[in-house]
Amino acid sequence: MSATVLGNGDSGPGDRPPIPEEIAELTDPSNRIDPYPLLNKLRDRSPYSPFDGLVVVGRHAQTSEVLRDPTMSAARDKATISPTARGPRTRNFLHLDPPEHTRYRRLVSGAFARRKMESLAPQIRENATELLRSGAASGTIDVIEDLAYPLPLRMICELLGVPYEDRDRIKDWSAILAESLDPQFGASAGRMTRETARARAAFVGYFRDLVELRRAEPREDLISHLLQAEVDGEQLDDSDILATCVLLLNAGHETTANLIGNAILALLRHPEQYERLRADPTLAAATVEEVLRYDAPVQMTARVARQPGTIGDTELRPGDTILLLIGAANRDPDVYPDPARFDIDRVHGTPHLAFSAGAHFCLGAPLARLEATIALELFGTLMREPRLRPDGVAYKPNLNLRGLARLPVDVDGV
Ligand code: HEM
Repeated sequence: MSATVLGNGDSGPGDRPPIPEEIAELTDPSNRIDPYPLLNKLRDRSPYSPFDGLVVVGRHAQTSEVLRDPTMSAARDKATISPTARGPRTRNFLHLDPPEHTRYRRLVSGAFARRKMESLAPQIRENATELLRSGAASGTIDVIEDLAYPLPLRMICELLGVPYEDRDRIKDWSAILAESLDPQFGASAGRMTRETARARAAFVGYFRDLVELRRAEPREDLISHLLQAEVDGEQLDDSDILATCVLLLNAGHETTANLIGNAILALLRHPEQYERLRADPTLAAATVEEVLRYDAPVQMTARVARQPGTIGDTELRPGDTILLLIGAANRDPDVYPDPARFDIDRVHGTPHLAFSAGAHFCLGAPLARLEATIALELFGTLMREPRLRPDGVAYKPNLNLRGLARLPVDVDGV
């Protein structure tokens, strides 16, 4: 999801103040494999302001409080980890505040309700079984390419009414948008600006054609539903529909792919826990919750202060951006004993923040949970003797959307 979106970075010209060391460290690719020592350090130091206009928050209680605070705006319009980056905001409801946000969200929330999602279980199961069987046929399955990525993409395409045959184009545009929306993009802005603009225009153009087709011949899909929907007695205009389509399609696959990949990696690195899951597939849902806490697929988000105030001893001025370190909050020792331990039997007293909290709580959480639960259940029951190929494991460059690019696993068949 572009929940991911901290801001769209497009730096203006002129001198840039230097980026503080710990923030630069956050963007260092060598920290991608294990960002948690640094995140723990930032959390323990937080709340604090590394430069004018930015406040970093990483403690669970404060992160949760900011997310639920109605005086904090979701309308962030600058990249948060660069002192100078600025850029236009995409207009989708992730970036709107109530009451406008509430009206838009209500239009699509029914389509993602838990009960509705549960009715998709047989289809998810069928897709996952087919993907696992064909992925494992060669003796090595790349969990990302063969399962984690295609499963949620198929499902969100189906819900929206997007032809799955177009997946390769969609994949390319999504990858560029995900990279451009990453907070570190602000620090190296300019590099991808043209490519991003092209990808966004292509994505919107693609949906524009599809919207026209559905307008002429409505179907039982979300695009047709959006075309008929009304906000306060008025129909949505095309730009709102297009922004919502791009948001749902992007939010609906990349993050869930990361969750499934992060889960299988954690399980294969903890064989005793994998064995427990294999022996008792009903543990899959609890495993998914622990992975969301332990290795959050969305590592951070941001809010903008609308009023003067304080977080702890740190002062807030209107317009300040608050960088919320979800990945650090989910490992806060004040809330989770021995937080670096992956434990599928952990009893979650305090909810993790992987899906955010408050008004913008992830709309797709029931779908993501269901897809990941079924994927883990079936991986455990179908894969014979899975063995991680540690030298093949690679992370994607994205700082916020934490996930693997490759996860090869040898198997003795299905
Ligand atoms: C919002 C995470 C899957 C759709 C969010 C936010 C987070 C998040 C952290 C809120 C960001 C903020 O408060 O600033 C995740 C994770 C997922 C996931 C970790 C998978 C593991 C999905 C799926 C969909 C989806 C499958 C499907 C449609 C959305 C939408 C929003 C959102 C539409 C905006 C909600 C709003 O602004 O009211 N997600 N998401 N997400 N997510 Fe997800």
